[in-house]
Amino acid sequence: MSTARNHFGALALACIATLAHAQDANKLKVGLMLPYSGTYAALGVAIENGFRLRLDEQGGKLGGREIEFVKVDDESDPAKATDNVNKLIKRDNVDVIIGTVHSGVTMAMAKAAKESGTVLIVPNGGADAVTGPMCAQNIFRSSFSNWQPAFAMGEVAAKQGKKNAITITWKYAAGDESVAGFKEGFEKGGGTVAKQLTVPFPNVEFQALLTEIAAAKPDAVYAFFAGGGAVKFVKDYAAAGLNKTIPLYGPGFLTDGTLEAQGESAQGMLTTLHYADGLDTPRDTSFRTAYAKTYKLQPDVYAVQGYDAAQMLGIGLAAVKGDISKKPEFAAAIEKARIDSPRGAFTISKAHNPVQDIYLRRVVGNENKLVNVAVKNLADPARGCKL
Ligand code: PHB
Repeated sequence: MSTARNHFGALALACIATLAHAQDANKLKVGLMLPYSGTYAALGVAIENGFRLRLDEQGGKLGGREIEFVKVDDESDPAKATDNVNKLIKRDNVDVIIGTVHSGVTMAMAKAAKESGTVLIVPNGGADAVTGPMCAQNIFRSSFSNWQPAFAMGEVAAKQGKKNAITITWKYAAGDESVAGFKEGFEKGGGTVAKQLTVPFPNVEFQALLTEIAAAKPDAVYAFFAGGGAVKFVKDYAAAGLNKTIPLYGPGFLTDGTLEAQGESAQGMLTTLHYADGLDTPRDTSFRTAYAKTYKLQPDVYAVQGYDAAQMLGIGLAAVKGDISKKPEFAAAIEKARIDSPRGAFTISKAHNPVQDIYLRRVVGNENKLVNVAVKNLADPARGCKL
């Protein structure tokens, strides 16, 4: 009798184990490849927070499927990027990859996604190539191309009557492309970029270059830095007294998620971005309230991009009833969607990059306050994308 009971018990346990396994297999495996260390660490955390907030709002499911996360710290290191993404694709067998912040790492991810066919949603990395020559049916971006906010800032600076600018940035794809976008907008409006200064990523030794800027006396400076590096640059610029004489412009990354640390040094700065404080729409207000309640933090552009990556994944999955192997149907659903973002609703271009308003913002206290819409419905030119 007792042996029979033991057998029954063992069988029941085996059944439960099989059931649990089947349920696990039914979960959608999401690979989160983000920076959790280094100068972009806070950006990675904000993206994950935003993604999880959307997931929680949907009861923990997207397209009817529960989500299981596999996380990798990419360290914003392009040299490790191919190994990191291939671990997710080949070892962990993820169904979809979300990542990343750094343009160089993002390009390695896009290459691997293109080769394997794995769905990739980029929640920041602006590398123009990802929705340019590397564009693909299975690659999407919930953020921006490096060209977008930069081009808008070039137009704004020219409209403000600036004629002669110096640019300064980290020397890698994001900085180079941001400067190129600014130059295009600025020159179109009659300005000239006199000099392009760079420091290696993620170096923050700016002193020699600030001395050079002070001596050259341009009538504007355009800078691309983000995260910890942006905090240091804006503080050093003010400490050198340059903020009193030469206006410092940049894409909004220069002051997003950084204002508490930058304090006085950032006050009055004008930047352009696809998000702003004080949008004052019901959609943004409900997002901000929920984010602040969940994380005890104010959201920034990175949180919005993570949230919208989850929205885009949800839209695609709903259309294929959770079966992400149906790639054409998954893509078609996102292509025809209007994504109800806290930034304002946007659509996705043929190359899978957001077509979106770029706001002009001014730093007031700890906020990047909306000034106006610098460019309405701006689409990246998607140079080189053949889809
Ligand atoms: C990028 O490398 O594409 C990048 C990184 C941080 C930002 C924006 C763009 O804030």
